Amino acid sequence: MTGIKFLSTGVGLPENVLTNADLEKMVETSDQWITERTGIKTRRIASDKQATSDFSIAAARQALSRAGIAPETVDAVVVATCTPDHLMPSVACLVQRALGLKNAFAFDLEAACSGFIFGLACVNGLMRSGAAKTVLLIGADTLSKFTDWTDRGTCVLFGDGAGAALLQASDRDDNLLAVHLGSDGSFTDILNIPGGGSRHPLQRSKNAPFTTGEVAGNFPPYIHMEGKEIFKNAVLRMAEAADSALKKCGKTSDDLRLLIPHQANLRIIDAVAKRMKLGDDKVFRNVQKYGNMSAATTVIALDEAVQGGVVKRGDLVELIAFGGGLTWGAAVLRW
Ligand SMILES: CC(C)(COP(=O)(O)OP(=O)(O)OC[C@H]1O[C@@H](n2cnc3c(N)ncnc32)[C@H](O)[C@@H]1OP(=O)(O)O)[C@@H](O)C(=O)NCCC(=O)NCCS
Repeated sequence: MTGIKFLSTGVGLPENVLTNADLEKMVETSDQWITERTGIKTRRIASDKQATSDFSIAAARQALSRAGIAPETVDAVVVATCTPDHLMPSVACLVQRALGLKNAFAFDLEAACSGFIFGLACVNGLMRSGAAKTVLLIGADTLSKFTDWTDRGTCVLFGDGAGAALLQASDRDDNLLAVHLGSDGSFTDILNIPGGGSRHPLQRSKNAPFTTGEVAGNFPPYIHMEGKEIFKNAVLRMAEAADSALKKCGKTSDDLRLLIPHQANLRIIDAVAKRMKLGDDKVFRNVQKYGNMSAATTVIALDEAVQGGVVKRGDLVELIAFGGGLTWGAAVLRW
């Protein structure tokens, strides 16, 4: 095996659009505040009946159809998500069932918003070990279900969605030139979902069944975030990761056709671009439309850049991301 080929990408999004004007009616905020501090104008939000696997299945279906390969060809499904439908089974197994990927093994991995890039490193390992040849890698999250819709500091930031990439071990092509990953567990307190896991599970009363969404004491199952600390770390870590991955493959930011940063906030993206000395035409932005879709952002942005003709075969592209954990990562692609 020489390298990894990207066969196709695909996207799955909820239909519901939530605008800043809608949010003005829900919490004390304004279109002006949200736009100035984040750049976000709209985001897609799951309905009560939708969950992460629904968007994952739609994204995967599109990627499979664009690649024109039979479902039996896929031998692994990896879903990067921190908001699975259930604690068990994995979203990956739900995707496998829905699409009839009967020869695939399937599992989820969790690296919050950096999940897709961690997934690329994981797929690289699966292929080089001989465990899999054709892999469906999905980045998907439904953070709206873990958002406190009365907290204006967080509820304006996030959106839901999924992106998929179909990857294949190749003897001729190598689209994945380098990956750099990092984590710092000493910052677990500044971005997390405190309740709903095994540390602070949903409460159970003696003779009554659980109530979904019931709050566990002071540990609600909603996103907690210290925005300013996250902002500083995001800029620093993404810029460092971008540089490290480029160095690993002997490139510099001058060689890039496009930087695809995690889409959390326009000001974070602008600050990273400035550090990397990249002009506007070399940095992809779609956070205005979707908000922060966590593990889905970089792969959906890659899909839009490719479908829109911004990225062409042979272009050097770098994905960078940052998220809870803290986690961060960068991947250099030769498209
Ligand atoms: C969240 C974020 C936009 C807040 O911007 P900020 O400039 O740091 O603003 P602050 O949190 O200091 O809040 C400033 C004021 O705006 C208020 N405010 C917060 N959210 C608001 C909103 N949606 N509408 C109006 N006012 C708001 C605050 O209450 C505060 O008011 P005060 O000065 O009266 O106390 C910014 O910190 C950020 O983007 N951080 C990174 C978040 C992120 O990307 N997370 C995911 C990483 S993967």
